[in-house]
Amino acid sequence: MSSLALMRWLEGSPQRYDAGMRLLTFGRVTPLHAAVVAAAARKPGDRVLEIGCGTGSVTARLVAAGARITALDQSPEMLEQARARLPEAGVTWLEQTAAEIDRMPEAGFDAVVLSLCLSDMSASERGFVLREAGRRLAAGGRVVVADEVRAPGLFGWLQRLWRVPQAALGWLLVGSVSRPVPDLVGELHAAGLVVRAEQRWLLGSLAVMVSEPER
Ligand SMILES: C[S@@+](CC[C@H](N)C(=O)[O-])C[C@H]1O[C@@H](n2cnc3c(N)ncnc32)[C@H](O)[C@@H]1O
Repeated sequence: MSSLALMRWLEGSPQRYDAGMRLLTFGRVTPLHAAVVAAAARKPGDRVLEIGCGTGSVTARLVAAGARITALDQSPEMLEQARARLPEAGVTWLEQTAAEIDRMPEAGFDAVVLSLCLSDMSASERGFVLREAGRRLAAGGRVVVADEVRAPGLFGWLQRLWRVPQAALGWLLVGSVSRPVPDLVGELHAAGLVVRAEQRWLLGSLAVMVSEPER
């Protein structure tokens, strides 16, 4: 099977795509998703805007937590899989890019979630999206981000060594090559958000950050 055919086969079902993500993260995507959802959906009925929902694995957990969800993705194929996975869940699905977040109501959400999609964006898009995400929050709301980041200290060198095989594996397993976000805390800060809680895995290279607007 050619690499393109393998990629298409993996992309053809959420289960296969999610298995690829688990392999790429040595299984850490599971606790990462759990941490994202625990921070975003604190009580049933919380309004959550999910950006880059992919095949819907975070969406499914948000549904189980009783959140009211608006989920968007720029990829029609990914959205189709997410929709098929959660046909009766009452999720509002939108095919649009993250940068179109400025169409969403201001102060309309208790949480904005960006799980493993910031690293697909350019630095300028991330800056715009994070700033606009803060504006979408109702009082007491939070922006929850999860992504690959630069590992601290010596672990950063291990991360660089692992980069080349990881990029090849990423392309084969999920059809994309992400780059770690170089300074996620700094980018959140520049967008007017302050990190209130943080969890990390894989020598500090995979992070969930829960942030709130600076008052
Ligand atoms: C690696 S998947 C992550 C999916 C899911 N959030 C998760 O945590 O498993 C990244 C998703 O983000 C979407 N994405 C990346 N950049 C985007 C953008 N600028 N606007 C909208 N969606 C984007 C991709 O289409 C893909 O479905």
